[in-house]
Amino acid sequence: MEHIRQATEQDIPYMYEISLRTALSGLDGTDYYHDPFCVGHYYAAPYFFFDPALCFIAVDEYNRPSGYIVGTSDTVAFNSWMNSHWLPPLKIHYTNATAYKSKNEEDMIRLINKGPGEGVWEHVGYPAHLHINLLENLQGKGLGKALMLTFMEGVQKRGVAGIHLGVDGRNTRAFGFYEKMGFTKLKEPAWGAVFGLKF
Ligand SMILES: CC(C)(COP(=O)(O)OP(=O)(O)OC[C@H]1O[C@@H](n2cnc3c(N)ncnc32)[C@H](O)[C@@H]1OP(=O)(O)O)[C@@H](O)C(=O)NCCC(=O)NCCS
Repeated sequence: MEHIRQATEQDIPYMYEISLRTALSGLDGTDYYHDPFCVGHYYAAPYFFFDPALCFIAVDEYNRPSGYIVGTSDTVAFNSWMNSHWLPPLKIHYTNATAYKSKNEEDMIRLINKGPGEGVWEHVGYPAHLHINLLENLQGKGLGKALMLTFMEGVQKRGVAGIHLGVDGRNTRAFGFYEKMGFTKLKEPAWGAVFGLKF
């Protein structure tokens, strides 16, 4: 039976796989990357190493990890740790990267080399942020909602005021999900939308 649970170290390979297979605005990005790990290096694994208590996994009927929610209750501290600890070895790893399979891969590696900059939303009442991704076979079964409610509970217990997240403009399906979960659109930059929720 499908269900959700706390993430463990052994889930890390699956987190990389899930991030790749949902990398194209929610769709499978496998054919767009020479390096199958570059997406997970930024959007999945670091969250587990920074704060595993806020990482949860959805498993399919065969107990295979097939979805996750990862995030942080303190975006300022997370971004600082990304820039000082997590990204430097990756920047060395990708120093001479030039053979990109797609614009998506080029953008991803550029982001790794640049790192997160000074944000806005964490300073105006939305200190937490998250990423949620489920493989296609697990979507539409209530597991996204279960992951989101569990993450929200974890963040709320820490007394955090709110959560923000960014969505690619091509992923309009996700817009509906976030609105259903109580998020409101804060801004629509050229690349998509920023959603926020205050407790
Ligand atoms: C977006 C995503 C996380 C949603 O999770 P899910 O498991 O498919 O959604 P759920 O089945 O838990 O739906 C929860 C609720 O949201 C509603 N919902 C889901 N998608 C919706 C949509 N596009 N529009 C309106 N409501 C939606 C459901 O009807 C359900 O409502 P209910 O509580 O009244 O039954 C999941 O589909 C996914 O991972 N997609 C691919 C990756 C992705 O796009 N990630 C987001 C990147 S920003």
